[in-house]
Amino acid sequence: MKRKVSSYNCKESEVTDETLFINRRSIIKQLGILGSAPFITNSSIAKSQDQKTNNQPNVRQLLSYKRDVIGTDELTSENKAISHNNFYEFGSQKHQPAELSRDFKVKPWTLSVNEGDRSINLSYDDLLDMFDLEERIYRLRCVEAWSMVIPWIGFPLSKLIEKLNPSSEAKWVRFQTIYKPSQMPGQRNYFLGGGIDYPYVEGLRLDEAMHPLTILAVGLYGKTLPPQNGAPVRLVVPWKYGFKSIKSIVDINLVSKKPRTTWNLLASNEYGFYANVNPEVDHPRWSQAYERRITSGGIFNQKRIKTLPFNGYADEVAHLYKGMNLKKNY
Ligand code: MTE
Repeated sequence: MKRKVSSYNCKESEVTDETLFINRRSIIKQLGILGSAPFITNSSIAKSQDQKTNNQPNVRQLLSYKRDVIGTDELTSENKAISHNNFYEFGSQKHQPAELSRDFKVKPWTLSVNEGDRSINLSYDDLLDMFDLEERIYRLRCVEAWSMVIPWIGFPLSKLIEKLNPSSEAKWVRFQTIYKPSQMPGQRNYFLGGGIDYPYVEGLRLDEAMHPLTILAVGLYGKTLPPQNGAPVRLVVPWKYGFKSIKSIVDINLVSKKPRTTWNLLASNEYGFYANVNPEVDHPRWSQAYERRITSGGIFNQKRIKTLPFNGYADEVAHLYKGMNLKKNY
């Protein structure tokens, strides 16, 4: 179950085959679209995707990335991961985000990373080609006691924060989801949107944000993210409950004060700021000792398994909370 951070240094053989990649690039070049889509690797669909870009921005592109080491956890099927979602901006029932996000436009996009008046702005294309992309097969444990194992594709958040060269004042990181009621029905309708005061906001301590396990994901299962999973860019913090992994981010602010966060504002006795997966601290309305692992197929395929401290990543992250009372700082 446990994995080491050093396991990301993949062996040569695990990296996408270079000649395959070069071949694909040359075909893409012949199609005249290299540069506009540097990480498309499947030439057969590249042309049609490019042509459709304006009116069908949500067609998922194949990505080129360094593969992760396959662990012992059974992967959740892609179909499950993109059809059983929490994304209240598109409705609070699991099937709604996939259905109600079809008109969500992810292009053009600007992700702004800033501290005070210093900022870096990333376009949709920058998100895909500014950093080397890598796969991270992580367990995602929702606070509702279900879990999945998802092959994300992205880059460490630390790489982006380092570019901003944060001052010593920066102690916390605040994240904000796009506010676009015209395309997000849950932001227009209080009931559909689960009573949340939008935009959705989240936060991390700076050292959590800089931890090598914390990534910004731009894809899953080899392709760019679909809207329901947080396209074009979302946070993934695998040792915390899923609600910390905020989707469709437009703003990342480095700040000196602990930021307020959406679920904590809504019910602070149920959802703490830290939200580290902890089988010993129950949610006031249910136990967190076990989880339902969603793999593939129907409800009978779901295994009931023990929840691990820090979602099984304790070796890598427990030191961040040394001396802290984790029952108080839930
Ligand atoms: N981000 C935004 N903006 N809105 C949301 O409703 N839900 C969170 C998180 N990020 C949510 C969000 C919750 S509760 C979970 S469990 C994960 O997204 C689910 O991610 P997934 O749908 O990709 O599995």
